[in-house]
Amino acid sequence: MARVNEHYRKLAAGYLFPEIGRRTREFQQQHPDAQLLRLGIGNTTEPLTPSVIAGLHNGVDQLADRETYRGYGDEQGDLDLREALARFYKGRSMEIASDEFFISDGAKPDSGNIQSIFSLDSRPAFQDPAYPVYVDTNVIAGRSGPYNPDTGTYERFIYMPCTKENRFIPELPSEPADLIYLCSPNNPTGAVATHDELKRFVDYARDRKAVIIFDASYSEYIDDPDLPRSIYEVDGAKQCAIEINSFSKFAGFTGVRLGWSVVPKELTVADSDFGTVHSLWFRRQTTFFNGASNIVQRGGLAVLSDAGLQECGELTSYYMGNARIIKEGLQEIGLQAYGGDNAPYIWMETPGGMTSWEFFDKLLSEAWVIGTPGSGFGPSGEGYFRLSAFGHREDISRAVDRIQKRLTL
Ligand code: MLT
Repeated sequence: MARVNEHYRKLAAGYLFPEIGRRTREFQQQHPDAQLLRLGIGNTTEPLTPSVIAGLHNGVDQLADRETYRGYGDEQGDLDLREALARFYKGRSMEIASDEFFISDGAKPDSGNIQSIFSLDSRPAFQDPAYPVYVDTNVIAGRSGPYNPDTGTYERFIYMPCTKENRFIPELPSEPADLIYLCSPNNPTGAVATHDELKRFVDYARDRKAVIIFDASYSEYIDDPDLPRSIYEVDGAKQCAIEINSFSKFAGFTGVRLGWSVVPKELTVADSDFGTVHSLWFRRQTTFFNGASNIVQRGGLAVLSDAGLQECGELTSYYMGNARIIKEGLQEIGLQAYGGDNAPYIWMETPGGMTSWEFFDKLLSEAWVIGTPGSGFGPSGEGYFRLSAFGHREDISRAVDRIQKRLTL
C-alpha cells in the first residue's frame, strides 16, 4: 500500500506565487476591464541581448551538423562554460577551480536540492523573511517538526529575523545551527550584507563545522564596489560555504534556465574529509539530473564574454532604473521603502498597520497593481510588501503613477 510523503502535509500554505496567481485571476474575472500591472514575481521582461542570442543560435547550429553535434555533455556542465565561470570569479580575485562548478538549470532547483546531501538531523537556520524554497524543501525532507500556526514557524527550524532595526541583515543564529541559508542581495528585502557581516557568518560556520548555503542570484545588481558579490570574497568561506547563482536575473534567463553552484573541495563537515561534500553533490546531480541544455550553455558562455557582460550590465542597470522609480515614488507619498539600491526588490512597510495580504488586496483593487505580500516569505515579513523592479519601464512608471494617484492612504 503506497502512502504519500507525510511531510508535504506540513507545508504551511500553497507556494506563494501560485497563490498570488489564484487571487489575481479571481480579481480579473470579476473586473475584466482592469488592466493589471504585475510587480509581483521577479520575472524578467526585456529581451536577451545580441551576443547571447548569437550564442544560442550557435548552439542550435552546432546541433545541425554531424561534425559538431553533441548529445550528453560533461557531467558537471560544459567544461568551457565552467572555465569561463572560473575566469569570471578570478577577475574578482577569487580562485575557484573549474571542477568546483556544477552547471544546473537554475538557482531554484539547486537551492532546493542541496539540503539532500546533509543529514536529516542537521538543523537549518533561515533568514526571516526568506525565499520560500529554502524552508519548504527542508519541510519536505522531514527536518521541520510540527508547524505552529500561531507563530508561523516550524519547531525545529531556527529563524533569524531581518527587521528594520537590524537593516534586514540577521544576527547569528540564536541556537546552534548546522545549515545556514543566506541570500544577498536579499530576496525579498533588497538588503545587501557587507563584507564584515558575511565574515561573522563565515567565522561562525567554520567554528561549528556548519555549512552556509549562499544564494547569490542577485549579485549582478550590486553597484556599490564595496559590497561583496560572492561569499568567497571572505577569507575562509571556501571551507564552509556553497554558493548558488543563476543566469536568470543576471542575463534574462528566467525562461531559458541556467545556473551554477560552487561546491568547494575544501568544504568539510563534521564527518567528512576533503572532497567528500563535493563528491556527494556530484553523485546527487549525476543521479537526478542529466545536465542543462547544450544550446542554453552556449548562451551562458556568451553571457560571460566581454560583449555579453557589457550588455547584461546594461540590462541590470535598466531594471535598477525601475527600482529607483518605484522606491522614490513610494517615498514621495510618505511610504517607508527599503532595498532597491543594489537589488531589484523594494521592501515597503504596509501603511496603517495593515497585514501584508490586506495591502495586497487594497493595491490590487485600488491601483490594479500586483505585488507580493511580505508574510508569504516568513513571519517577520508580516506588515511588509515586496515590489519587483522587473518590468517594462512604461509599466513601472504607470504602476507608480497609479499608486500615487489612486491608493487611499
Ligand atoms: C521571486 O519573485 O521571488 C523570484 O522571481 C522567484 C524565483 O526566482 O523563483
